[in-house]
Amino acid sequence: MLLTLILAAALQLIPAPAQIQVRGGSFKVDPAKMSFVADPASGLPEEGYTIDVTRARVKVVASSEAGLFYARQTLRQLEENGRIPCVKITDYPRFRWRGFHVDPCRHFLSVEETKKQIDILSSYKMNVMHWHLTDDQGWRIQIKRYPRLTEVGGARTEFDGSVHEGYYTQDQIREVVAYAAERHVTVVPEIEMPGHARAAIAAYPGLSCTKETEHPQNMWGSPNIVMCPGSEFTFEFLAGVIDEVCALFPSEYIHIGGDECLKVKWEHCPACQARIQAEGLKADATGTAEEKLQSYAVRRMEGILATHGRKLIGWDEILEGGLSPNATVMSWRGEKGGIAAALEGHDVIMTPSKEGMYLDHVQGDPKIEPVSIGNYTTLEKAYKYEPVPEELVADGKASHVLGLQCNNWSEYIYSDAHRQYMLFPRAFAVAETGWTLKENKDWDSFRVRVDKACRDLDRRGVNYHIPLPEQPGGSCDRLVFIDKADLAFTTTRPVAAMVYTLDGSEPTVQSARYQRPLTFTEDAVVKIASVTSYGKLSPVRTVSVRKMNPLPALPAEKAIGLTARRTDGRFLCAADLAGATWRDVPLKRLRDLTTLEPFDRNLPDSTRFYAAEAEGMFRVPDTAVYRFSSDCDQVWIDGKLLIDNGLEVKRFSRRDAELALEEGLHRMKVVYIFNVLGGWNSLRGKTDVLIRKAGDEKFNPVDIQK
Ligand code: ACM
Ligand code: ZN
Repeated sequence: MLLTLILAAALQLIPAPAQIQVRGGSFKVDPAKMSFVADPASGLPEEGYTIDVTRARVKVVASSEAGLFYARQTLRQLEENGRIPCVKITDYPRFRWRGFHVDPCRHFLSVEETKKQIDILSSYKMNVMHWHLTDDQGWRIQIKRYPRLTEVGGARTEFDGSVHEGYYTQDQIREVVAYAAERHVTVVPEIEMPGHARAAIAAYPGLSCTKETEHPQNMWGSPNIVMCPGSEFTFEFLAGVIDEVCALFPSEYIHIGGDECLKVKWEHCPACQARIQAEGLKADATGTAEEKLQSYAVRRMEGILATHGRKLIGWDEILEGGLSPNATVMSWRGEKGGIAAALEGHDVIMTPSKEGMYLDHVQGDPKIEPVSIGNYTTLEKAYKYEPVPEELVADGKASHVLGLQCNNWSEYIYSDAHRQYMLFPRAFAVAETGWTLKENKDWDSFRVRVDKACRDLDRRGVNYHIPLPEQPGGSCDRLVFIDKADLAFTTTRPVAAMVYTLDGSEPTVQSARYQRPLTFTEDAVVKIASVTSYGKLSPVRTVSVRKMNPLPALPAEKAIGLTARRTDGRFLCAADLAGATWRDVPLKRLRDLTTLEPFDRNLPDSTRFYAAEAEGMFRVPDTAVYRFSSDCDQVWIDGKLLIDNGLEVKRFSRRDAELALEEGLHRMKVVYIFNVLGGWNSLRGKTDVLIRKAGDEKFNPVDIQK
């Protein structure tokens, strides 16, 4: 085991193989002298292979074509300058399901980009692409019986008027499925029901309880407009879709979604309630009548799939109200659902979100990483995820864990380069956990080996994440000091170096190396980047450090209470407010800026958008440097604009800034706009302005005087 680890590290293989022997010397690549034999009688496990390299020849034996394909991937990684080291490798996967998930619904990706992912991930021995083809924000697969699915459901108009659209024709789907099959990747399509279906409902309003005629959802989050399981049309429609889907995808499994279905409309729908009565669905300890109705709908899907000889997979919500007899569960809300299903004898795929399998989660300090859905999943956390829970081992049910999968939801993925940035290198960690024997996994070895895989991405023209220099306790690009400042940096995992300049020039590998906290007594601009072991730089951070006299406190007689005013209309940013007509509105607390109109999770066309400004006074206890943070559009302190979030998605306030303030009263103005930028509805955001004294760890809301 230890030897395998050391040798895998020496040979830089990902995923680390089951067994390696190194013999010394190398083979000069010569296709005549390389044999590849697929022999079902070889005794090797499914997908397994042996590679035997001497100076004279290479002999590869596998139990199947898949094994030969994986042997070729290993040889590709071993080859350097036309030579392959003399080794004997015996290798086979730990799990049969080594999945990655692609979400073209929120942000579409081309056939070419999809193929690129398949190409790369199959070369690291992943073998399932879960293709999430339908959701509230877009229907992405052509269905010939239902052309409006792509005509109406394939495009959404965003708040700023831009249109986001795209779908795959059936020919393109066949092309991707065939491309994947050549690389031993099975494509498992997902057709979401009964929730996450607003794009389908926009095309065929009869699918919903209330026959909603509005467009696809044009912001993130789950609407409560869902399919009506009371209506036979819903199942006729789904059977028609599944008919065409099964003709396109040869996979044993079809994913039917089943997650996050809000059931409030069912409670008031005569058809749904009639179905509940007719089927004798009753609330009990295992669920409400509406949860039983969802379970009924999933059982109907299982029946539809069975007519095509296919098996059903759903997200773990399909456990609620009772699991269909032959369903396989994808456990995403932690491992609980997966454990419960496996204990009942169902197969499961582990893809728990907060345990490291959601690659849409932020991978470094959210203050400086691009906006994301949040949470926190470093490469190390993704790597250390163990898909077989102890409970299942203890109960002899471990074999029900078919494997694991990383999910890459695309709400906040606005470009291909950014999709790649979120996927890599974390997907390599998932690839290794899927393939490599548990006893052969080792983080310290992996984090070194991953650099070779990243160089491979460079050759293939693919973007990836390199840890940024971060400030311990929270990064900030606009710092001030009164007498002197100490500025420290760290990274989420070891890098070769951090390099910086102080003269405004872009850092290079030759720039000064960061060794210890930098001390400043004069204004400075620090440009700093991380450097990998192979000399590539991360994006450069620019941090300004400015000497500042504390802003004087205002006399008590200038104190005002909290005042606010509002203007109606659609505004993208504060610059759009010039010339607006304002009216005063009462406001108890700053956070009430988000409640001047009710929040509606469906964002109907009748939504009344607005902007508001609030002004008030706050007191600071000491003369000191304070850091401010806000998801509002603008924050002004003592008449000066401190934070302007511009056209940024207003989540996780990534425009923090510092000021030196004298002890006492100061004035603050906040500009808040209710809009939807990048799919984020700002009514779901926070309007508190947060403050922390330099050196403190925790932000607190600014306490505006009454
Ligand atoms: C999910 O993330 N809603 C499966
Ligand atoms: Zn209904």
